[in-house]
Amino acid sequence: MAESRSNPQLAAVRLADYQPPDWLVPDIELDIRLDATRTVVKARLHLRRNGRHDRPLVLDGHGLETRIIMLNGKGCANWPNGDTLTIPVDGDEAVFETEVVIHPSRNTRLMGLYASEGRLVTQCEAEGFRSITWFPDRPDVLSRYRVRLEADKALYPILLSNGDRGAARDLPGGRHEITWTDPWPKPSYLFALVAGQLAALTDEFVTMNGRRVQLAIWTAAADVPRCAHAMAALKASMEFDERVYGREYDLDEFNIVAVADFNAGAMENKGLNIFNSKYILADSETATDMDFDAVAGVVAHEYFHNWTGNRVTCRDWFQLSLKEGLTVFRDQQFSADQGSAAVKRIDDVRALRAVQFPEDSGPLAHPIRPDHYVEIANFYTATVYNKGAEVIRMLHALLGVDGFRRGTDLYFDRHDGEAVTCEDWLKAMEDANGIDLKQFRRWYEQAGTPRVSVTLTQQGGRAELVLRQTVPPTPGQPDKQPVHMPFRLALIGRTSGRRIGDEQVVELREAVTHLTFADLPEPVLPSLNRGFSAPVVVEADTARADLAFLAAHDDDPFARWEAFQQLALSVLGSDDDPAPLVEAVRGTLADPGLDAAFKGEAVLLPTESFIGDAATIVDVEAIHRRREAARMAIATGLESEWWAAYERERTALAGRETALTPEAKGSRRLANVALSYLVTAGSDRAFAAAETQYHAALTMTDRLAALRALVNSQATTAQGARAAVLADFHQRFAGNNDVIDKWFSAQALANRPDVLDQVERLLKHPDFTPSNPNRLRSLVGAFAANQRWFHAADGAGYRLLADQLIAVDRLNPQSAARLAVPLGRWRRFDAVRAALMRAELERIVAAPGMSKDVLEMASRALA
Ligand code: PHE
Ligand code: ZN
Repeated sequence: MAESRSNPQLAAVRLADYQPPDWLVPDIELDIRLDATRTVVKARLHLRRNGRHDRPLVLDGHGLETRIIMLNGKGCANWPNGDTLTIPVDGDEAVFETEVVIHPSRNTRLMGLYASEGRLVTQCEAEGFRSITWFPDRPDVLSRYRVRLEADKALYPILLSNGDRGAARDLPGGRHEITWTDPWPKPSYLFALVAGQLAALTDEFVTMNGRRVQLAIWTAAADVPRCAHAMAALKASMEFDERVYGREYDLDEFNIVAVADFNAGAMENKGLNIFNSKYILADSETATDMDFDAVAGVVAHEYFHNWTGNRVTCRDWFQLSLKEGLTVFRDQQFSADQGSAAVKRIDDVRALRAVQFPEDSGPLAHPIRPDHYVEIANFYTATVYNKGAEVIRMLHALLGVDGFRRGTDLYFDRHDGEAVTCEDWLKAMEDANGIDLKQFRRWYEQAGTPRVSVTLTQQGGRAELVLRQTVPPTPGQPDKQPVHMPFRLALIGRTSGRRIGDEQVVELREAVTHLTFADLPEPVLPSLNRGFSAPVVVEADTARADLAFLAAHDDDPFARWEAFQQLALSVLGSDDDPAPLVEAVRGTLADPGLDAAFKGEAVLLPTESFIGDAATIVDVEAIHRRREAARMAIATGLESEWWAAYERERTALAGRETALTPEAKGSRRLANVALSYLVTAGSDRAFAAAETQYHAALTMTDRLAALRALVNSQATTAQGARAAVLADFHQRFAGNNDVIDKWFSAQALANRPDVLDQVERLLKHPDFTPSNPNRLRSLVGAFAANQRWFHAADGAGYRLLADQLIAVDRLNPQSAARLAVPLGRWRRFDAVRAALMRAELERIVAAPGMSKDVLEMASRALA
């Protein structure tokens, strides 16, 4: 990168420079005297020289007030130089001790030890442990931890850390202590502690070998009943990992703590997962069906890390996808197993396309295993996580259920207790199955979303399919090689609408693949990339009438949904009449073979940003205008169908409004899509129905859907209702963070020309606390996702975003860096917008004292 030469702050770390650690720390003892303003951390590291060399011990530390440094019981003359401490050591073993002071209440970065609502909590991944004590803070140094926690007993009655709990003891002066011992060696990024006033929902799980595990989810006492769904998901995850992967839990207790201030979703610390409260707390009054599913998915994700991440961890941070891609794949499998697999797959693909595809086609593109980074916190990306999961899914498709399990069994056998690489993972898959994944490895090396273009020719009973793959150039990677992918396909009879022959998994390896089919009883249409078996863009140039036919007949639910999406992209890419979309939706609603959950998905138009992604240059106004016109045509053209669907699903829900069964969720989904089309059509009857539903709702799903429908309505006749429900919602849920976030987001995402003014007003609202990452995302992050109004032609949206980013960077660089992403997409917009976006990026780079997190993101975006 050019910037790394001009700005030493942006020096890159490179995979090619990896060296094993010079010193290992098989054991560490921590003694932590907790206090919000002044915490004292004593550390004793038992060191062992790694190999034959005479290099000193080099430790990482950040923002530590160092009091004492001792080697083998004697004070050291060496003192820190910035963030490193270098100690020459004689002999192959030594004991190294430090005492440092840290200040949790001043820690707004939310890395290391910080305060949240009066509690003290840690976040150490990726490099937070160095903000707690001096340590070789890298994932290939694995240690057994023994941790003594001491604190004021009234302020911090609960003291948690990793592993097994020792006896607690009261101390003079109203203080108390407890010692936790973790028998499993772990890297420093998995260390955790929590101290504070907490109550727990408790339960028990008996493992496949009969071991009893005590489960606890800790939160404020008032929120304990809202942990029930998370607890059920935890037990289901433990059962799933035993049943599907043969993996058993390995400690006597498993603790989860929910906190309000958290940079990410959750963290898999050994035996002590710490969660963003929005992924734990859920009940029908405050959580939507989507929230319930997200809670279960994230609980499963963090639990599954116990094997994929903790027992087998990463050698270095370039290997992040080793644990994250694999664990996302496992949580997706779990969610599919617990609910509707078809809808889950559609939702996962939608998320991949919404976030990862743009990343892969923009200035931030990187392979799932990057080979350099400036700030590792910037690489917790949709590419590493979600594309990483797609790569694992392709292995699953190539090897089959049994072959994949043989591979994971060998991986765990071989590498339990080790810090390994993606290469080790692939080798285990190869050795267990006697296959060669040489070409498959390109998925780990090449960035960019492959394109597969497909042409079909047919004559008589013969058909030929030609599939051509290309991988587009990305920054730093001009030339790409073809990849090895499983491409599921089938043929659908153009007359009968039935599948002709079996589905096949074709392994594409070459740039061009020819497939021929003989003895076909009728003309056919290809059903391509069924189940989204490969994370690629398919270009098939299928006629609209054929897409409509597939949207009505394809027997693969994903492919059927996709056919309508492609039809919509085709129609909305032009000023053509949206009538084919109205007819397709009519057919879907009337199809007795489809369930409500699928219908609720299949009648939705692609988002404005997805439509924009399909174009070379995003025409913000035209996309909005056409999509709005199509929505109106679907709303008014099918008004009686929407009323029928609405009433049918509401009736189906009567008496089981709060049920979380797949059927009830499906009914709510379809009823609420119907309601939003009805409000779009704009009758007084529809406004009244939305208002009634808002007030009578027994679930957040129904209440929020009614609120959003009214908030998005352009009609002046809906003004009164809109203001009333917004005021009611705020008052009804005052003090409930996760719900107030929804109130902010609904307004920031509104489909209304006055959104920018509303967001400016909300920035001054007393509930807007930018230091809280959830709240910042709910207002500023949500606004940046509102394509039409964020991309206002005068650049006011960009200015607002950049102002917020610059202000927040002083508090929390990780939060700020995330806000740079939307501006990085400037190349996709017209010249006027592109210049305005660039100007804001340049203003960010020039602002004094910006963090390395933000500078890396902004300078990559400008390069
Ligand atoms: N490792 C966490 C997860 O995916 C994510 C995370 C990363 C959390 C960095 C905090 C900080 O489960
Ligand atoms: Zn994870």
